[in-house]
Amino acid sequence: MGPLLTTVGAVAATGVAGLAYSAVVEPRLFTLRRFTVPVLAAGSAPLKVLHLSDTHMTPNQRVKQRWIRGLADLDPDLVVNTGDNLSHVDAVPSVLRAYGDLLDLPGVFVFGSNDYFSPQRKNPVQYLRGGTGVASSGAWMREPNLPFEEMRAAFTERGWTDLTNRHADVAVDDRRLAFVGVDDPHLDFDELDDVPADRSADLAIGVAHAPYLRVLDRWNSLGYPLLLAGHTHGGQLRIPFKGAIVTNCDLDPARARGLHQHAVDGHDPSWMHVSAGLGSSPVTPVRFACRPEAALLTLTAVDSPGSP
Ligand SMILES: [Fe+2]
Repeated sequence: MGPLLTTVGAVAATGVAGLAYSAVVEPRLFTLRRFTVPVLAAGSAPLKVLHLSDTHMTPNQRVKQRWIRGLADLDPDLVVNTGDNLSHVDAVPSVLRAYGDLLDLPGVFVFGSNDYFSPQRKNPVQYLRGGTGVASSGAWMREPNLPFEEMRAAFTERGWTDLTNRHADVAVDDRRLAFVGVDDPHLDFDELDDVPADRSADLAIGVAHAPYLRVLDRWNSLGYPLLLAGHTHGGQLRIPFKGAIVTNCDLDPARARGLHQHAVDGHDPSWMHVSAGLGSSPVTPVRFACRPEAALLTLTAVDSPGSP
């Protein structure tokens, strides 16, 4: 074999190995990320928030279901679920089994497009060019075909609070958290209002599936100190030492996952956590340099030592 053929063969073998790793290995490398977020009033005790997102469950994903069940051992004070729970019409029982004891804790949720609509095959080039919004997905002209109402009923029956285009207070021990939530901005289902954050609560938190700038801007300008979202899958395919290429929305790739700040002119910055999520659509079942994740956010007092 000549040097050229050897090189071509090596490149092809590397490509096949990379694809196999992205499709078979990394989607199962579940990771817990931990962040400290100094958003509580001075002198407050910490609060542990487990942020789940983009589970994209199918009934046969036993490894994922077991890993999520184990998160209850973290003993969080609150669970925030930012949507895209389903990737199969029969997945609701699997989702409920996976969330398990977490459903008995105080919790809030919003839905994403993958709670309403089953995955559609898309051109991956279109995804990488950022062209998978509501117009190109065609979701606006389809009827929801996933059992989101069944899932909503199961979540609320266990005590989680539905934040779909509404405000709600949630008690966590002796503290009162004031939430605002929207339905999925990626589908243009969000109904934003002009109600300022409730400063008399222990904390005001905005929750959305997709972190579109119009939502982040509005909630920052209304005084919400903490914003939580998912949807981006962290870019899903990340370039080592560089990061995400796309976010599947108008958020900049540098903030595709993790803890960042968001501010519009003239307003104090809000802390923002974007989850890279626990799964991916079955039509794009690959992750590279972007392990599936849940996040444990330890909310601390603004004057706590060691705050970032
Ligand atoms: Fe998702």
